[in-house]
Amino acid sequence: MAKIRMKTPLVEMDGDEMTRILWQKIKEILIEPYVELKTEYYDLGLKNRDKTDDGVTYEAAQANLKYGVAVKCATITPNLQRVEEYNLKKMWKSPNGTIRQILDGTVFRAPIIVDGITPYIPTWKKPIVIARHAYGDIYRAVDGAAGKGRAELVFTDRNGSEIRETVHDFAGDGVVCAMHNTNKSIESFARACFNYALDAKLPLWFSTKDTISKVYDGEFKKIFAEIYEKEYKEKFEQTGIEYMYTLIDDVVARIVRSEGGIVWACKNYDGDVMSDMVATAYGSLAMMTSVLVSPSGVYEYEAAHGTVTRHYYKYLKGEATSTNPVATIFAWTGALKKRGELDGTADLCAFADRLEGAVKRTIEEGFMTGDLVALFKKPGVTPVKLNSEEFLQAIAERV
Ligand SMILES: NC(=O)c1ccc[n+]([C@@H]2O[C@H](COP(=O)([O-])OP(=O)(O)OC[C@H]3O[C@@H](n4cnc5c(N)ncnc54)[C@H](O)[C@@H]3O)[C@@H](O)[C@H]2O)c1
Repeated sequence: MAKIRMKTPLVEMDGDEMTRILWQKIKEILIEPYVELKTEYYDLGLKNRDKTDDGVTYEAAQANLKYGVAVKCATITPNLQRVEEYNLKKMWKSPNGTIRQILDGTVFRAPIIVDGITPYIPTWKKPIVIARHAYGDIYRAVDGAAGKGRAELVFTDRNGSEIRETVHDFAGDGVVCAMHNTNKSIESFARACFNYALDAKLPLWFSTKDTISKVYDGEFKKIFAEIYEKEYKEKFEQTGIEYMYTLIDDVVARIVRSEGGIVWACKNYDGDVMSDMVATAYGSLAMMTSVLVSPSGVYEYEAAHGTVTRHYYKYLKGEATSTNPVATIFAWTGALKKRGELDGTADLCAFADRLEGAVKRTIEEGFMTGDLVALFKKPGVTPVKLNSEEFLQAIAERV
């Protein structure tokens, strides 16, 4: 059978440890036999980031902007221990953080639903997609210790006039924190969420705590409402989906009672916490996909998990590990499908769908990696634990 041709290359960002090993195997066993794979390759492995003074991360992000679609392997974000382990020149920043900043994107995380792996919340039948604003709030905050005295918030405008507000008169020791966001970033976040919901044909819920944080969270609410009215209301009505704003405590209660099938837009911290809660409730971090979408329509697909270090050390000792490759495979299929959509190559989209179907069928027929075995419950099917390579071969038999 002739291989499927690609028109435009994908930007391929390689990574670290166990996911780097799986990356090669996924290409060899599941993609290259069927697709004449065209990629522009960037090695974001920690060794090469160190060698290039992290230049490769910037180049890869620029290539993502140029071509529109990238697929990224999990990468190490170095801490002190990694600086010693890899003998690094310095503690390089998180590549995901760098790429997010350059793309000005919003991260959407969605679970991969498979028959036999029941979420801990049994009413959840469809995916709940968490859209996390990836800028500002506590992640860019200035905080510090306070002693007896006054903490103040001062804003100096460009003419030098000051607005000064007392945060607290401290009678003793305490802590203070000042955070910010920009309207530009909130607007990008809003548009990314509305576009994603339209694309996925799913309703969009947005939550903050504007009853308490009247100005800060109130601005988020106002910007979403204005952009919705002006740019998206008609399209939402035509597509038959709703946009709803409500308080975060209300959404938490509604989500637990829902059957899923919702995009839930969250501020930065809420999204950080809620996406881990949702991922765990759906069963496994290794069954969670993640895509970074920029307001100008640039996409970067990846798995939501890390480099699975524990398995990598076993692999280095020569042991065959049972590391779950599903989220990384779905990063590839997501990217190939988007590339196919943008280039009008229907056979590439169809192949991505076929591969996703094969992954799901393999698990549904009882063949899976170790992390899923304990979660799998399907009458008449006894789960069989395979190592990663056996699992990839079992998928290949079903493509
Ligand atoms: N997107 C990214 O690039 C990304 C995200 C998170 C962590 N990291 C990096 O990954 C490294 C390891 O971090 P961590 O241990 O916190 O996160 P991790 O996601 O690698 O592992 C967390 C836990 O989940 C399990 N797990 C995760 N994915 C799995 C899979 N595919 N199959 C089976 N089990 C799986 C692991 O065994 C571990 O117990 C760190 O260096 C960190 O910087 C990268």
